Amino acid sequence: MFPAVVGTVPYYRRYAMQRRKWVVLSFLVAASFVIGGALIPSAIGVSSIPKDAKYVGTKACRKCHTKEYKVWAKTKHGTNFEELKGDQRKDPKCVKCHTTGYGKPGGFTSEADTPELKNTGCEACHGPGSAHAKAAKDAPDEGKWEMFTDKTPQNACVACHNPHINHDKYKK
Ligand code: HEC
Ligand code: HEC
Ligand code: HEC
Ligand code: HEC
Repeated sequence: MFPAVVGTVPYYRRYAMQRRKWVVLSFLVAASFVIGGALIPSAIGVSSIPKDAKYVGTKACRKCHTKEYKVWAKTKHGTNFEELKGDQRKDPKCVKCHTTGYGKPGGFTSEADTPELKNTGCEACHGPGSAHAKAAKDAPDEGKWEMFTDKTPQNACVACHNPHINHDKYKK
């Protein structure tokens, strides 16, 4: 008299529920990998650059990255040292943002000693490039070597561009 499904869930619904459970579960597992992989390294500041890497200057990058160099050279990052006049070119208050790697090992020291580190060079955003340039040069098989450079330098910009910096304060 009673249909066989009374008090139970029909088999086809049970199957759909089980399937949905697995879909949700595997989505959550996949999402945690994606979110963890993307957020954790950047949140804790992991970089693939070795601690002893040094600044080598924009010309060293130009050899292999001609396309990026040409684009960069036309932006103000490629010319902003020119904004500084006379003694401003020696003033730590100004060169810390209008040069590359100022105050860091192998970074800009002076116009005479480190002309390749004038302006906001490649390494101001991608980090000191000695290990990357060497690895690329020695690479037996392109794409299968450790990069030793930061591809997505999200945090690099705020060192120089930041709403809390009153630029007029620096300029006389
Ligand atoms: C000897 C050649 C060579 C030199 C010198 C070199 N690179 Fe590279 N670089 C490569 C190659 C090859 C790749 C991988 C292929 C590609 O993406 O073009 C690469 C990739 C990159 C990437 C992308 C990394 C990624 O994870 O995809 C960045 C950023 C980079 N280089 C920056 C620099 C900077 C900054 C310099 C100068 C300090 C520099 N490179 C010097 C050859 C070189
Ligand atoms: C904290 C980083 C920082 C420091 C320090 C700094 N600058 Fe700048 N400067 C910038 C940025 C970023 C820009 C681009 C500003 C913009 O487009 O909003 C800029 C632009 C300029 C410009 C051209 C555009 C404009 O706003 O007039 C001049 C000239 C200049 N800076 C001179 C100086 C001088 C001189 C000093 C030292 C007394 C100095 N800067 C110190 C980051 C800095
Ligand atoms: C103002 C910061 C900044 C400067 C200066 C800069 N880059 Fe980049 N670069 C970036 C950003 C941001 C990306 C994009 C990363 C991404 O797509 O995740 C990038 C991407 C790259 C890539 C990866 C491939 C591509 O084209 O997307 C290479 C190679 C590279 N830059 C090389 C250079 C070289 C060589 C120079 C100097 C001539 C340079 N960059 C200067 C910020 C900068
Ligand atoms: C080492 C300091 C420094 C860093 C790091 C830096 N900038 Fe700049 N940026 C400058 C200075 C200085 C100027 C402007 C100079 C001028 O007006 O001549 C500038 C100019 C610019 C301009 C105007 C470009 C043009 O050609 O008109 C843009 C857009 C910009 N920056 C975006 C970025 C972004 C995005 C990042 C990070 C990926 C970044 N900057 C990292 C110092 C820096």
